[in-house]
Amino acid sequence: MAMRLARAYTGKPAVLKMKGHFHGWHDYAAAGAFRSEAAPVGVPQSVLESVVVSEPAIEDVLQALDDRPDIGAVIVEAAGALTGTLPLPAGFLKAVEAACDERGLVLILDEVVTGFRWAPGGVQELTGVRPHLTALAKVLAGGYPGGALSGRRDVMEILAFPDGGGDWRKTKMGHPGTFNANPVSAAAGVACLTQVADGAHQATADRQAAALRSGINAVLREEGVCGAAYGESSRFRLLFDSPGLQPPTADVSQHDLPLGVLEAGSPGRSLHLLGLALLNRGVFLFGDGGFTSSVHDAESLAHTLESFQAAVREVKPHLEAKA
Ligand SMILES: Cc1ncc(COP(=O)(O)O)c(C=O)c1O
Repeated sequence: MAMRLARAYTGKPAVLKMKGHFHGWHDYAAAGAFRSEAAPVGVPQSVLESVVVSEPAIEDVLQALDDRPDIGAVIVEAAGALTGTLPLPAGFLKAVEAACDERGLVLILDEVVTGFRWAPGGVQELTGVRPHLTALAKVLAGGYPGGALSGRRDVMEILAFPDGGGDWRKTKMGHPGTFNANPVSAAAGVACLTQVADGAHQATADRQAAALRSGINAVLREEGVCGAAYGESSRFRLLFDSPGLQPPTADVSQHDLPLGVLEAGSPGRSLHLLGLALLNRGVFLFGDGGFTSSVHDAESLAHTLESFQAAVREVKPHLEAKA
Protein backbone atom coordinates (compact mmCIF):
# COMPACT_ATOMS: atom_id res chain seq x y z
CA MET A 1 0.00 0.00 0.00
CA ALA A 2 2.84 2.38 0.90
CA MET A 3 4.58 1.66 -2.38
CA ARG A 4 1.44 2.22 -4.44
CA LEU A 5 0.70 5.43 -2.60
CA ALA A 6 4.24 6.66 -3.24
CA ARG A 7 3.86 5.85 -6.94
CA ALA A 8 0.56 7.70 -7.05
CA TYR A 9 2.15 10.72 -5.34
CA THR A 10 5.32 10.96 -7.40
CA GLY A 11 4.02 9.55 -10.68
CA LYS A 12 7.17 7.42 -10.80
CA PRO A 13 6.88 3.63 -10.98
CA ALA A 14 10.11 2.28 -9.49
CA VAL A 15 10.99 1.69 -5.85
CA LEU A 16 14.47 1.47 -4.35
CA LYS A 17 14.87 -1.05 -1.56
CA MET A 18 17.86 -2.24 0.43
CA LYS A 19 19.56 -5.58 0.05
CA GLY A 20 18.46 -8.01 2.74
CA HIS A 21 15.63 -5.81 3.98
CA PHE A 22 12.37 -7.65 4.56
CA HIS A 23 9.05 -5.96 3.91
CA GLY A 24 6.76 -8.97 3.67
CA TRP A 25 6.55 -11.44 0.83
CA HIS A 26 4.42 -9.62 -1.73
CA ASP A 27 5.80 -9.26 -5.24
CA TYR A 28 7.23 -5.74 -4.99
CA ALA A 29 9.05 -6.49 -1.72
CA ALA A 30 10.49 -9.82 -2.80
CA ALA A 31 13.60 -8.69 -4.66
CA GLY A 32 16.74 -8.71 -2.53
CA ALA A 33 15.02 -9.99 0.60
CA PHE A 34 17.24 -12.22 2.79
CA ARG A 35 20.31 -10.89 0.90
CA SER A 36 19.57 -13.30 -1.93
CA GLU A 37 20.58 -12.35 -5.47
CA ALA A 38 18.12 -14.78 -7.00
CA ALA A 39 14.76 -13.53 -8.20
CA PRO A 40 12.09 -15.24 -6.11
CA VAL A 41 10.08 -17.83 -8.01
CA GLY A 42 6.65 -16.71 -9.11
CA VAL A 43 7.44 -13.00 -9.23
CA PRO A 44 7.00 -11.60 -12.76
CA GLN A 45 10.01 -10.05 -14.48
CA SER A 46 7.95 -6.90 -15.10
CA VAL A 47 7.61 -6.42 -11.33
CA LEU A 48 11.30 -7.02 -10.71
CA GLU A 49 12.16 -4.37 -13.30
CA SER A 50 10.45 -1.72 -11.21
CA VAL A 51 12.30 -2.65 -8.02
CA VAL A 52 15.91 -1.57 -7.67
CA VAL A 53 18.01 -3.16 -4.91
CA SER A 54 20.88 -1.25 -3.34
CA GLU A 55 23.41 -1.99 -0.63
CA PRO A 56 22.40 0.00 2.46
CA ALA A 57 25.20 2.52 1.94
CA ILE A 58 24.44 6.13 1.06
CA GLU A 59 26.89 6.24 -1.90
CA ASP A 60 25.12 3.24 -3.46
CA VAL A 61 21.71 4.75 -2.83
CA LEU A 62 22.69 8.07 -4.46
CA GLN A 63 24.19 6.21 -7.42
CA ALA A 64 21.00 4.19 -7.88
CA LEU A 65 18.89 7.35 -7.74
CA ASP A 66 21.12 8.95 -10.39
CA ASP A 67 21.00 5.85 -12.58
CA ARG A 68 17.25 5.39 -12.38
CA PRO A 69 15.24 8.61 -12.62
CA ASP A 70 12.08 6.50 -12.61
CA ILE A 71 12.57 5.78 -8.88
CA GLY A 72 9.87 7.57 -6.87
CA ALA A 73 10.28 5.97 -3.46
CA VAL A 74 12.93 4.53 -1.17
CA ILE A 75 11.94 1.95 1.42
CA VAL A 76 14.13 1.01 4.38
CA GLU A 77 13.76 -1.31 7.37
CA ALA A 78 14.14 1.11 10.24
CA ALA A 79 16.58 -0.92 12.37
CA GLY A 80 18.49 -2.51 9.49
CA ALA A 81 18.01 -5.76 7.62
CA LEU A 82 15.79 -8.31 9.29
CA THR A 83 15.08 -6.21 12.36
CA GLY A 84 18.63 -5.27 13.18
CA THR A 85 20.30 -8.53 12.19
CA LEU A 86 22.58 -6.41 10.01
CA PRO A 87 23.30 -2.80 10.95
CA LEU A 88 22.59 0.36 9.01
CA PRO A 89 25.63 2.65 8.75
CA ALA A 90 25.58 5.53 11.23
CA GLY A 91 23.59 8.48 9.85
CA PHE A 92 22.19 6.41 6.98
CA LEU A 93 18.51 7.13 7.62
CA LYS A 94 19.04 10.90 7.85
CA ALA A 95 21.14 10.85 4.69
CA VAL A 96 18.43 8.95 2.80
CA GLU A 97 15.84 11.37 4.14
CA ALA A 98 17.87 14.31 2.82
CA ALA A 99 18.33 12.64 -0.58
CA CYS A 100 14.58 12.03 -0.84
CA ASP A 101 13.76 15.59 0.20
CA GLU A 102 16.16 17.04 -2.36
CA ARG A 103 14.74 14.96 -5.18
CA GLY A 104 11.05 15.07 -4.25
CA LEU A 105 10.97 11.32 -3.54
CA VAL A 106 8.99 9.49 -0.88
CA LEU A 107 10.91 7.89 1.97
CA ILE A 108 8.98 4.91 3.34
CA LEU A 109 10.22 3.78 6.73
CA ASP A 110 9.23 0.23 7.57
CA GLU A 111 8.53 0.24 11.31
CA VAL A 112 6.42 -2.92 11.22
CA VAL A 113 8.54 -4.37 14.03
CA THR A 114 10.23 -1.32 15.50
CA GLY A 115 7.26 1.06 15.70
CA PHE A 116 6.15 1.32 19.35
CA ARG A 117 8.76 -1.35 20.31
CA TRP A 118 12.10 0.51 19.93
CA ALA A 119 10.38 3.47 21.60
CA PRO A 120 6.78 4.72 21.76
CA GLY A 121 7.64 6.71 18.63
CA GLY A 122 9.68 3.94 17.01
CA VAL A 123 13.09 4.36 15.41
CA GLN A 124 12.04 7.76 14.11
CA GLU A 125 11.71 9.03 17.67
CA LEU A 126 15.22 7.81 18.45
CA THR A 127 16.95 9.01 15.29
CA GLY A 128 14.93 12.12 14.44
CA VAL A 129 14.36 10.88 10.91
CA ARG A 130 11.07 12.12 9.43
CA PRO A 131 9.86 9.70 6.76
CA HIS A 132 7.13 10.69 4.34
CA LEU A 133 5.35 7.40 4.98
CA THR A 134 5.64 4.94 7.86
CA ALA A 135 4.52 1.35 7.46
CA LEU A 136 3.24 0.21 10.84
CA ALA A 137 1.09 -2.67 9.71
CA LYS A 138 0.48 -5.35 12.32
CA VAL A 139 2.51 -3.71 15.09
CA LEU A 140 -0.45 -1.41 15.62
CA ALA A 141 -3.19 -3.94 16.25
CA GLY A 142 -2.01 -5.67 19.41
CA GLY A 143 -1.59 -9.01 17.68
CA TYR A 144 -4.90 -8.89 15.84
CA PRO A 145 -5.25 -8.66 12.06
CA GLY A 146 -4.95 -5.00 11.35
CA GLY A 147 -2.49 -2.46 10.20
CA ALA A 148 -1.71 1.16 9.67
CA LEU A 149 0.13 3.43 7.34
CA SER A 150 0.90 6.94 8.50
CA GLY A 151 2.54 9.84 6.79
CA ARG A 152 2.78 13.40 5.69
CA ARG A 153 -0.51 15.06 4.90
CA ASP A 154 0.18 15.81 1.24
CA VAL A 155 1.05 12.16 0.56
CA MET A 156 -1.80 10.75 2.66
CA GLU A 157 -4.32 13.02 0.94
CA ILE A 158 -4.06 10.80 -2.13
CA LEU A 159 -6.08 8.38 0.01
CA ALA A 160 -8.79 10.88 0.77
CA PHE A 161 -12.31 9.69 0.26
CA PRO A 162 -13.64 10.61 -3.16
CA ASP A 163 -15.70 13.76 -3.03
CA GLY A 164 -17.98 12.46 -5.73
CA GLY A 165 -16.79 14.99 -8.26
CA GLY A 166 -15.06 14.12 -11.55
CA ASP A 167 -13.29 10.84 -12.15
CA TRP A 168 -11.75 10.52 -8.67
CA ARG A 169 -10.04 7.25 -9.58
CA LYS A 170 -7.52 9.21 -11.66
CA THR A 171 -6.27 11.13 -8.65
CA LYS A 172 -7.25 9.22 -5.52
CA MET A 173 -6.18 5.78 -4.37
CA GLY A 174 -8.86 3.47 -3.02
CA HIS A 175 -7.96 0.85 -0.40
CA PRO A 176 -10.91 -1.45 0.18
CA GLY A 177 -10.35 -4.50 2.38
CA THR A 178 -12.27 -7.04 4.42
CA PHE A 179 -10.49 -6.02 7.60
CA ASN A 180 -10.72 -2.28 7.06
CA ALA A 181 -12.17 -0.69 10.18
CA ASN A 182 -12.55 -4.10 11.79
CA PRO A 183 -13.90 -3.24 15.26
CA VAL A 184 -12.13 -6.04 17.16
CA SER A 185 -8.76 -5.20 15.64
CA ALA A 186 -9.37 -1.51 16.23
CA ALA A 187 -10.24 -2.16 19.88
CA ALA A 188 -7.14 -4.34 20.29
CA GLY A 189 -5.06 -1.58 18.70
CA VAL A 190 -6.45 1.09 21.01
CA ALA A 191 -5.83 -1.13 24.05
CA CYS A 192 -2.29 -1.91 22.91
CA LEU A 193 -1.40 1.71 22.16
CA THR A 194 -2.77 2.83 25.51
CA GLN A 195 -0.50 0.31 27.22
CA VAL A 196 2.68 1.20 25.36
CA ALA A 197 2.29 4.99 25.23
CA ASP A 198 4.58 5.83 28.16
CA GLY A 199 7.43 3.47 27.27
CA ALA A 200 7.35 1.48 30.53
CA HIS A 201 6.63 -1.86 28.84
CA GLN A 202 9.39 -1.22 26.32
CA ALA A 203 11.87 -0.43 29.12
CA THR A 204 11.04 -3.70 30.90
CA ALA A 205 11.33 -5.72 27.68
CA ASP A 206 14.62 -4.01 26.82
CA ARG A 207 16.07 -4.85 30.24
CA GLN A 208 15.05 -8.49 29.85
CA ALA A 209 16.62 -8.65 26.39
CA ALA A 210 19.87 -7.10 27.60
CA ALA A 211 19.98 -9.63 30.45
CA LEU A 212 19.20 -12.47 28.05
CA ARG A 213 21.92 -11.42 25.59
CA SER A 214 24.50 -11.07 28.38
CA GLY A 215 23.38 -14.36 29.92
CA ILE A 216 23.67 -16.23 26.61
CA ASN A 217 27.15 -14.79 26.06
CA ALA A 218 28.19 -15.87 29.56
CA VAL A 219 26.97 -19.43 28.86
CA LEU A 220 28.83 -19.52 25.53
CA ARG A 221 32.03 -18.39 27.27
CA GLU A 222 31.60 -20.88 30.08
CA GLU A 223 30.98 -23.73 27.66
CA GLY A 224 33.78 -22.65 25.31
CA VAL A 225 31.48 -22.37 22.29
CA CYS A 226 32.08 -19.83 19.50
CA GLY A 227 29.27 -17.35 19.03
CA ALA A 228 27.44 -14.35 20.42
CA ALA A 229 24.04 -13.01 21.24
CA TYR A 230 23.60 -9.43 20.10
CA GLY A 231 20.92 -6.90 19.39
CA GLU A 232 19.22 -3.74 20.51
CA SER A 233 15.91 -2.84 22.07
CA SER A 234 14.02 -6.04 22.97
CA ARG A 235 15.50 -8.10 20.17
CA PHE A 236 18.31 -10.65 20.17
CA ARG A 237 19.99 -12.59 17.43
CA LEU A 238 22.13 -15.61 18.13
CA LEU A 239 25.32 -16.49 16.30
CA PHE A 240 25.97 -20.05 17.35
CA ASP A 241 28.98 -22.17 16.43
CA SER A 242 30.30 -19.20 14.47
CA PRO A 243 33.96 -19.90 13.54
CA GLY A 244 36.48 -17.75 15.41
CA LEU A 245 33.88 -15.64 17.20
CA GLN A 246 34.81 -15.42 20.87
CA PRO A 247 31.70 -14.71 22.98
CA PRO A 248 31.66 -11.06 24.12
CA THR A 249 32.07 -10.24 27.78
CA ALA A 250 29.37 -7.57 27.64
CA ASP A 251 26.06 -6.99 25.94
CA VAL A 252 26.72 -6.06 22.30
CA SER A 253 24.72 -4.69 19.39
CA GLN A 254 24.96 -5.32 15.66
CA HIS A 255 27.30 -2.31 15.46
CA ASP A 256 29.92 -4.04 17.61
CA LEU A 257 30.52 -7.19 15.56
CA PRO A 258 32.19 -7.63 12.15
CA LEU A 259 29.69 -7.41 9.28
CA GLY A 260 31.10 -10.53 7.61
CA VAL A 261 30.42 -12.58 10.74
CA LEU A 262 26.88 -11.23 10.99
CA GLU A 263 26.24 -11.98 7.33
CA ALA A 264 27.64 -15.50 7.58
CA GLY A 265 25.25 -16.39 10.42
CA SER A 266 25.34 -19.79 12.08
CA PRO A 267 25.83 -23.21 10.48
CA GLY A 268 22.28 -24.39 9.76
CA ARG A 269 22.80 -27.82 11.30
CA SER A 270 24.21 -26.48 14.57
CA LEU A 271 21.35 -24.04 14.90
CA HIS A 272 18.83 -26.75 14.09
CA LEU A 273 20.23 -29.07 16.76
CA LEU A 274 20.25 -26.28 19.31
CA GLY A 275 16.67 -25.37 18.42
CA LEU A 276 15.54 -28.96 18.98
CA ALA A 277 17.44 -29.26 22.26
CA LEU A 278 15.82 -26.03 23.45
CA LEU A 279 12.38 -27.13 22.33
CA ASN A 280 12.79 -30.31 24.38
CA ARG A 281 13.21 -28.01 27.37
CA GLY A 282 10.20 -25.85 26.57
CA VAL A 283 12.06 -22.95 24.96
CA PHE A 284 11.28 -21.94 21.38
CA LEU A 285 14.03 -20.23 19.41
CA PHE A 286 12.43 -18.17 16.63
CA GLY A 287 14.84 -19.00 13.80
CA ASP A 288 18.12 -17.60 15.05
CA GLY A 289 16.83 -15.13 17.58
CA GLY A 290 13.75 -13.63 19.07
CA PHE A 291 12.19 -10.91 21.15
CA THR A 292 11.43 -10.31 24.78
CA SER A 293 8.29 -8.65 26.06
CA SER A 294 7.27 -7.01 29.29
CA VAL A 295 5.68 -10.24 30.58
CA HIS A 296 9.06 -11.95 30.67
CA ASP A 297 10.29 -11.90 34.24
CA ALA A 298 13.24 -13.13 36.31
CA GLU A 299 11.77 -16.61 36.42
CA SER A 300 11.31 -16.96 32.65
CA LEU A 301 14.77 -15.50 32.07
CA ALA A 302 16.34 -18.00 34.47
CA HIS A 303 14.45 -20.89 32.86
CA THR A 304 15.58 -19.78 29.39
CA LEU A 305 19.23 -19.47 30.39
CA GLU A 306 19.29 -22.78 32.27
CA SER A 307 17.68 -24.46 29.27
CA PHE A 308 20.15 -22.78 26.96
CA GLN A 309 23.12 -24.04 28.98
CA ALA A 310 21.76 -27.60 29.09
CA ALA A 311 20.99 -27.49 25.34
CA VAL A 312 24.47 -26.18 24.51
CA ARG A 313 26.03 -29.01 26.54
CA GLU A 314 23.91 -31.53 24.71
CA VAL A 315 24.80 -30.36 21.20
CA LYS A 316 28.43 -29.35 21.88
CA PRO A 317 29.92 -32.67 20.68
CA HIS A 318 28.28 -32.10 17.29
CA LEU A 319 29.44 -28.53 16.60
CA GLU A 320 31.68 -27.51 13.71
CA ALA A 321 33.72 -24.63 15.14
CA LYS A 322 35.98 -25.29 18.08
CA ALA A 323 36.56 -22.35 20.39
C1 LIG B 1 10.06 -5.38 8.91
C2 LIG B 1 8.85 -6.07 8.36
N1 LIG B 1 8.14 -5.47 7.42
C3 LIG B 1 7.03 -6.04 6.90
C4 LIG B 1 6.58 -7.25 7.35
C5 LIG B 1 5.37 -7.84 6.71
O1 LIG B 1 4.32 -7.98 7.53
P1 LIG B 1 3.11 -8.90 7.03
O2 LIG B 1 3.54 -10.31 7.27
O3 LIG B 1 1.99 -8.48 7.89
O4 LIG B 1 2.91 -8.61 5.59
C6 LIG B 1 7.28 -7.91 8.36
C7 LIG B 1 6.82 -9.21 8.89
O5 LIG B 1 7.28 -9.72 9.86
C8 LIG B 1 8.46 -7.33 8.87
O6 LIG B 1 9.20 -7.94 9.81
